[in-house]
Amino acid sequence: VSVYLVGAGPGDPGLITVRGLDLIRGCEALVHDRLVAPELVAEAPEDALVVDRSALDQGALNDLLVELGSAGLEVVRLKGGDPFVFGRGGEEALALAEAGIPFEVVPGVSSIAAVPAAADIPVTHRGLADQLTVVTGHRADGSDLDFEALARTRGTVVVFMGLSALDAVAAGLLDAGAEPETPLAIVSRGTLPDQEVVVTTLGEATGAGRRLRGPALIVLGEVVRVRSMLAAAARLAEEVAA
Ligand SMILES: C[S@@+](CC[C@H](N)C(=O)[O-])C[C@H]1O[C@@H](n2cnc3c(N)ncnc32)[C@H](O)[C@@H]1O
Repeated sequence: VSVYLVGAGPGDPGLITVRGLDLIRGCEALVHDRLVAPELVAEAPEDALVVDRSALDQGALNDLLVELGSAGLEVVRLKGGDPFVFGRGGEEALALAEAGIPFEVVPGVSSIAAVPAAADIPVTHRGLADQLTVVTGHRADGSDLDFEALARTRGTVVVFMGLSALDAVAAGLLDAGAEPETPLAIVSRGTLPDQEVVVTTLGEATGAGRRLRGPALIVLGEVVRVRSMLAAAARLAEEVAA
């Protein structure tokens, strides 16, 4: 193997896999997303080539990975969350495969469930949600989400890249007949020390994300109520103990 497509986890550097960290510590070149934890980038050997990919478009990035892989270097391509979840990891793998460069995908903890969990929201919960739908707030072709289908979906909906699209997503869902009382949470910078959580409803969501920083994930559905159930249970337990 020459190029490892490694998932860095959702933010907290402690949430990378053991294998991912071992590979960073042994690599000769590290090509990383801007948003991965700086603590993980700092784990690369001192003499490793370290490249922040933010200045490169996807084509130039694919070419760089092929070039480094062809040179026979041990390359870690460090990506936020899991490499194959809304991260163009598949495109990078295809570019490597087409160039005949041996590569391996090292899965990461995706923010899909980890970020809601860090806000005390389970994405499934018996009696509240037995189905999970994951969508992006920003489609590659700029088209609207299928709000009709989404409004009819049972269970939990997790919206990636949805902070700037929140108002449009809420309006689209309400127009399509979704229940305005549906609980909605916005989790900003999940698993990081400055994590913020805003809980509201679909009907009240417009503008709710305005003062939040990205990255952020939107969670829609009855499972959002578990957060306040857990807080109430913890308060009760404290009172009993006092
Ligand atoms: C380009 S996608 C990459 C997703 C990543 N591959 C994963 O598996 O989590 C970036 C989006 O993931 C979500 N995200 C990633 N990390 C997050 C975090 N720590 N807190 C909240 N949302 C996060 C946000 O919706 C953000 O816009």
